[in-house]
Amino acid sequence: MSYNFDEIIERKGTNSLKYDTLKRVFGTEDVLPLWVADMDFRTPDFIIKALKKRLEHEILGYTIKTPGFYNSVTGWMKRRFGWEIESDWISFTPGVVSALNFGVLGFTELGDKVIIQTPVYAPFFTAVKDHGRQLVLNPLKLNDGRYEMDLDDLEAQIDKHTKVLILCNPHNPAGRVWLKDELLALGEICLKHNIIIISDEIHSDLIMPGHRHIPMASLSDELANITVTTMAPSKTFNIAGLASSVIITSNSELRRKFEKLPNSCHLGNGNLFGLAALEAAYTHGDQWLEELLVYLDGNLDLVETYLEKIPQIKLIRPEGTYLAFLDCREMNLPQAELRKFFIEKARVGLNNGTDFGPNGEGFMRINVGCPRSILAEGMERIKKAVSL
Ligand SMILES: Cc1ncc(COP(=O)(O)O)c(C=O)c1O
Repeated sequence: MSYNFDEIIERKGTNSLKYDTLKRVFGTEDVLPLWVADMDFRTPDFIIKALKKRLEHEILGYTIKTPGFYNSVTGWMKRRFGWEIESDWISFTPGVVSALNFGVLGFTELGDKVIIQTPVYAPFFTAVKDHGRQLVLNPLKLNDGRYEMDLDDLEAQIDKHTKVLILCNPHNPAGRVWLKDELLALGEICLKHNIIIISDEIHSDLIMPGHRHIPMASLSDELANITVTTMAPSKTFNIAGLASSVIITSNSELRRKFEKLPNSCHLGNGNLFGLAALEAAYTHGDQWLEELLVYLDGNLDLVETYLEKIPQIKLIRPEGTYLAFLDCREMNLPQAELRKFFIEKARVGLNNGTDFGPNGEGFMRINVGCPRSILAEGMERIKKAVSL
């Protein structure tokens, strides 16, 4: 291994959302932050080098997207997922959450229905509700510690007002890397009912051994025609602070509708450093990513080993993402008490299960994207608190 993921780097006082908002989020500074999807690893050398190189030219004016930028994206999709895309299909947004909002606004009218599959990343809810669209919840089913889609429920809820489904693949926080058959079955329903799929694939690079990410739009021309795919190097390389994402849409009509709002707001232009980092990540990131995935899988082993000795908490071991949902229902605590337990007794800052929807009740989410010694400290704290 040539990269050192064990290195501990002080992040307090760096305007870090994860570290510098503890009092506001948890009501105390005294928690180990294992929450928001932000890892504690040093930004890879090839990204820092690209940023420093750009800074050497000390004029930071308006920027453009170069062939190098587009080639980095098309090359990454081909190498990582065997997905052949064209440069023309790529739009830029300052983040995937903004893209979800642009998609909802571009593809639906006031009062239209948008489906999401809960428990799911909280901004999926606001991307729909904040714009006067109706939110339709299609809860995932938890069978033997593994989440699955409920397609009967999905189809039963669809009516003529249902226009969009926001898919999360890999799924945060359910941890599923959806299989080809699952995606095809979902896609078939969407095709049948003229539903556009916004496929949030921000975690698509973070795939644990034995699993494979399949972009929804790569499955067939028909599915590509109804799908808008959101990707970004932000989770993979931990550069979310550079706010840069790519949206891939082969259907030019859908792309035009999607781009209308960001382009009129000049948000599609990109920012100088975000574009430079994205290009470096997608050009040189393979080796670093391979090493990261081995490390994250080892961190999940560590959590699993601890939880084998804590029967009240069960790990929903993620197939993708570095975010793991913890099933704490056997602790028999109302959600507010459960949250309080982790903050006050265990002194760890986790995400609250109900932030992901009503069926997150009894769950908490832990982020394992940190040096192993930090994670071990967090698990020790949880173990001690449970045994008190
Ligand atoms: C599924 C999913 N989509 C989007 C995001 C955030 O996207 P961005 O920071 O690019 O807006 C996250 C972050 O945790 C996420 O889990």
